[in-house]
Amino acid sequence: MSKREARKDGKQNPQSGHLDALVTAARTAREHAHAPFSNFRVGAAVRAKSGRIFSGCNVENATYSLTLCAERVAIFKAISEGERGFDAVAVVADTDTLTPPCGSCRQILWEFCGDAEVVLANLKGKIERYRMSDLLPKPFDQSFL
Ligand code: THU
Repeated sequence: MSKREARKDGKQNPQSGHLDALVTAARTAREHAHAPFSNFRVGAAVRAKSGRIFSGCNVENATYSLTLCAERVAIFKAISEGERGFDAVAVVADTDTLTPPCGSCRQILWEFCGDAEVVLANLKGKIERYRMSDLLPKPFDQSFL
């Protein structure tokens, strides 16, 4: 079962209240998205085990390939501030079908967050909850090196 507590009416499940601040931070960061090429605006936030929340937005580039996703901006901000150890990640986009992290971000999130909770949300209050191990089964990481 990978979809957890997604409600058909699109409202947040009451048991997801502990994720509200994280989703709000991701939603706010999305407003800063620099997405002139795709117009696809994404916000993300990670919650450190210290309780601090770090957010990020996607930052696009004219070369396209140098674009950074919101998730990586959020996690790199946290790492660069000295945080280690995370237990939850939120991703917000304005889509009816909720937007999951891309493959590159899944790898980065796995290496820094392990089997964290991942909450996907849109602007209408719809959410879905996953674990990183749902999104990235059989990951490669430093345990193989
Ligand atoms: N994007 C993200 O920031 N996060 C995701 O989870 C999916 C994709 C961005 C990258 C690019 O700026 C735009 O969305 C379209 O792919």
